[in-house]
Amino acid sequence: MIVVSNRIPTGESVSGGLVVALHDTLGCAGGIWIGAHPEPGIGEETLDELGLTPYRRLAFRLTEEEQKNYYLGYANSVLWPLCHRRGDLVEMRPEYGAAYQAVNARVARMVGKIARHDDLIWVHDYHFLPLAKEMRALGLANRIGFFLHVPFPALGDLSVLSQPERFADDLAHYNLIGLQTRSDVARCLEMFRADPRAEFMPDGGIKFLDRITAVRSFPIGIDTAGFAEDAAQEAVNPFGRGDPGRFLIGVDRLDYSKGLPNRFRAFARYLENRPAGSRPCLVQIAPPTRQQVRAYQDITRELEEIAGHVNGTFAELDWTPIRYIHRSVPRVELARLYRKASVGLVTSFADGMNLVAKEYVAAQDPKNPGVLLLSRFAGAAEDMTDALQINPYDVEDVATAISTALDMPLEERQRRHASCLDVVGRTDVTIWSTAFLRALMTCIPSMTFPGFE
Ligand code: ADP
Ligand code: F6P
Repeated sequence: MIVVSNRIPTGESVSGGLVVALHDTLGCAGGIWIGAHPEPGIGEETLDELGLTPYRRLAFRLTEEEQKNYYLGYANSVLWPLCHRRGDLVEMRPEYGAAYQAVNARVARMVGKIARHDDLIWVHDYHFLPLAKEMRALGLANRIGFFLHVPFPALGDLSVLSQPERFADDLAHYNLIGLQTRSDVARCLEMFRADPRAEFMPDGGIKFLDRITAVRSFPIGIDTAGFAEDAAQEAVNPFGRGDPGRFLIGVDRLDYSKGLPNRFRAFARYLENRPAGSRPCLVQIAPPTRQQVRAYQDITRELEEIAGHVNGTFAELDWTPIRYIHRSVPRVELARLYRKASVGLVTSFADGMNLVAKEYVAAQDPKNPGVLLLSRFAGAAEDMTDALQINPYDVEDVATAISTALDMPLEERQRRHASCLDVVGRTDVTIWSTAFLRALMTCIPSMTFPGFE
């Protein structure tokens, strides 16, 4: 198996659902993982072997211009806001699209050099939508699957792109398109239905010009048992001597899609009305990400202002309401923190799945579990119906839910947790990858590619 994604683990503690899930998958299955090297290059067409892991890691180098125009530009200033319903943040520049195409073509050539004819190729995320098309142009007839970790955009939103018709065409070069949720599948099918080049076949496959593809949902998950084990370890208290007592936890990359300002506002609203003597703390771990993009600089500044304001308003000499930490935390430590937290907060305005929701549930002590507050706009909400679902746009709703969660009787906490844990167990990362790869191996091969076996 050859896996291709932009992000690849490079040593330090990793954040981001894709890297965490693929690291767990390849750790069990083995294979080759190709991704971007953290250091820039000069546009070379060679792959560097990174250090030893249970799987091989091969890295291509992006030039500084490509990092700017392909990664920060087209991927994160066009496709990311588009998929997260933030058309207002899309920034379109001709050099972005050109670099995106050029990087996809170059990576295709590098994959082409190492792929054997029977390798399965599994491409991940919006950085590489046209990769299969580029590989097909080189003559690769392998089974190629694609998994989109972020929400599938609504048909209307695709019009934001300069050439919206390329989105469906690029995707149709994959044998299998995997999406997080049933709602994502519905949006993807809506796109194909609206496209005169697509034809629905009786078995559910889609014939697109001379190609056949399939679309299915594969809800991504975590290493549930491993995470629960880490969480239950009686290690040192992660807070040392600064134990906050009762606390709520949020763990997110510092991204505008995560609804962090409203989370802080809702916590402040809760503090205004809290019962006398109650002094819970919100521990927010948010490592900065994509900081060269303006929208990320803005959200970083906005959050600092809100946290400063909330702490200035409510703090006492021996109590800081919001503890706001900007760095990555080792996974074992993270698991321990989740387990100690009375409430886990997920307030995304849009989110492919949200693995943090699943990690929080897996880390709980089933005898005395905390409560998950889960945005109804996170993919995880589709199946985790017994989480306390909230509307992150409605600050009052979130504040009320915080109060409900902190006061929730043990029996109700246990019932909700058992139901959520059942979902987390049924959508484990191994089940996710096995289901995807099995579907890729059994789906209709690319028989309609002229000249290919
Ligand atoms: P996204 O893919 O948008 O970042 P997810 O919630 O699906 O969102 O995945 C985030 C992953 O990154 C989770 O596994 C989470 O534990 C991890 N993560 C996020 N922030 C940190 C952090 N500060 N330290 C360590 N891991 C983090
Ligand atoms: O899981 C969604 C995702 O966009 C991944 O594609 C990506 O690796 C991760 O979030 C973190 O983003 P980045 O790689 O830009 O730091």
